[in-house]
Amino acid sequence: MPEKITVPSVRARKRRRGSEPIVMLTAYDTPSAAAADAGGAEILLVGDSVANAVLGHPDTLQVDVHVLAHHAGAVARARPRALVVVDMPWLSYHLGEADAVRNAAELVRAGAEAVKIEGGAVRVPVVHALLAAEIPVMGHLGLTPQSVHVMGGYRVQAREDEAAAALVADGLALQRAGCFAVVVEGVPDVVGAALCDALEVPVIGIGAGAHTDGQVLVFHDLLGFGQVPVAKFVRQYANLHDVAARAVSAWAADVRSGSFPSDAETYHASTRIATSP
Ligand code: KIV
Repeated sequence: MPEKITVPSVRARKRRRGSEPIVMLTAYDTPSAAAADAGGAEILLVGDSVANAVLGHPDTLQVDVHVLAHHAGAVARARPRALVVVDMPWLSYHLGEADAVRNAAELVRAGAEAVKIEGGAVRVPVVHALLAAEIPVMGHLGLTPQSVHVMGGYRVQAREDEAAAALVADGLALQRAGCFAVVVEGVPDVVGAALCDALEVPVIGIGAGAHTDGQVLVFHDLLGFGQVPVAKFVRQYANLHDVAARAVSAWAADVRSGSFPSDAETYHASTRIATSP
């Protein structure tokens, strides 16, 4: 039985020290968590991307901590070997440290083994408060979807030298504050690499090039289970939308032709029950 992935085991994973890249995937329910775990994902992220990927919202701002806790519970009940990290949604850590700790506690009680928050040096007091409550924290820099309106859309970040330097400084601030890993999203590969070089904790990339200490993708993007166009950085390994639509269409045809259910798919009674004439 392979060993459970823990926060300390993730913190130790650095490619420049000879570690294999970390494999992280989102999961939002028990069957997807079980499939991702069986496929070898080492971190399951109950992302606030549940809003777009599963719940049909246009952005991640539409889900609150109760929604994330609901999905965290479903993922934790798969009892994965992978570490379960849960996103703190927008406004669950912006209104003061005590509020952030209370919200993170709801996620931990639902099954989170760590939480992820978006933002750099400005989040240091929240990271301290969460760690003081014994809740491990993963950072998230670069294209941070909760800032969609401030960024003016989902745009690649840190393309200029000054912004790239600021991003690395933010990473160092999160590391000093005690984050055990940092996600970096939507940045040029050289910026992903520079952040990786600067930090002792692992940097997990999404749309951040090939040089990071790990990669993360959204489950539904990887599997082609959704109708929205996917970002340039997504490699799709299946088209579950078409597989599901084909299966439903075959069943619908069987229902319409009367060939479903068959006798073998039908319960029978030992007595004859009178039916209407
Ligand atoms: O919510 C999410 O899926 C994420 C990943 C994109 C890192 O935060």
